[in-house]
Amino acid sequence: MNDYITGTVIHGEGNGRKFGFPTANVRPDTPVNIEKGAYAAWVKYDGKRHKGMLYVGTRPTLNLQEITYEIHVIDANPNLYGKRIAFKPVYKIAEEKKFRSKKELINALFDYKESAKVILSPFYSHHFNATRTHLDDIMTIIGQAKRRMKEQGLDQWQDGYPDEAAILNDIKHKQGHVFRKRFVFAAYAAIVFDKDPYYEKIDGKWLSNGEPYVTVHRLAVHDDFLGLDLARHALKFAERKARAKGVKWFRIDTHHDNRAMRNLIRDFGFTLCGVVQVRDGMRMAYEKKL
Ligand SMILES: Cc1cc2nc3c(=O)[nH]c(=O)nc-3n(C[C@H](O)[C@H](O)[C@H](O)COP(=O)(O)O)c2cc1C
Repeated sequence: MNDYITGTVIHGEGNGRKFGFPTANVRPDTPVNIEKGAYAAWVKYDGKRHKGMLYVGTRPTLNLQEITYEIHVIDANPNLYGKRIAFKPVYKIAEEKKFRSKKELINALFDYKESAKVILSPFYSHHFNATRTHLDDIMTIIGQAKRRMKEQGLDQWQDGYPDEAAILNDIKHKQGHVFRKRFVFAAYAAIVFDKDPYYEKIDGKWLSNGEPYVTVHRLAVHDDFLGLDLARHALKFAERKARAKGVKWFRIDTHHDNRAMRNLIRDFGFTLCGVVQVRDGMRMAYEKKL
């Protein structure tokens, strides 16, 4: 789900402010259906995205009954009263509880905050090799990337590729990698050490000549984890893997109009070598010495 839930801040910052967790009580514009609990959430106001927590529940610790949507913004203390706000739960941290005391509730909130920070931070917590059991999650991430490319008017990945068969092939060749934040799938990349047939012919000139190289294909980041440098982590991971194998070259290609990817590639110190023809069109081809 890419959509943020929008609403207006009606009140809050009452008890919460006193114990260090001011919350904004949001009235959603349309009825929402989110399970009760505490979530790591993105919060948008004044045109900017912030790390936050969302609580959906009735506040049983205070013996209240009405369902509320409370937002706590992490590392900021904005006055949101009356403002428009948008939020998006990313990961459920805990079920709603009736705590025995305020003190217990506050202790729990400190724990939740640490979890939320990890989940929404620029560092991934875990990497592992993709297996068949991850296929659905990977296809979700790939599907989101396809949709974003379409929205940007890119004709990359608009003909069905990468499809399940391509990912299953990555898995079979042990070149599929999943980047996870806690238990959330955040990014996918195929790290390939076989020669790429599409790189055999180039309109231009590769830097290396016949030596082994690594390449990254099918790199995709989950909607909820954009802007957190996960693509950069995936490329760094590929570099480390290549160095460990004694591979000295890194090749990569991307669409001419894929500005985000071209910027990332340039930042990484790749040299533009020319243009290659891949299955669905022409791509800018880059290489770097490791
Ligand atoms: C992330 C988060 C999780 C929460 N979880 C619970 C909970 O499990 N049980 C509960 O009674 N209240 C929970 N609360 C709600 C607090 O009770 C509430 O924020 C506090 O009472 C302050 O409310 P006020 O500022 O509107 O007075 C949670 C609040 C936040 C921000």
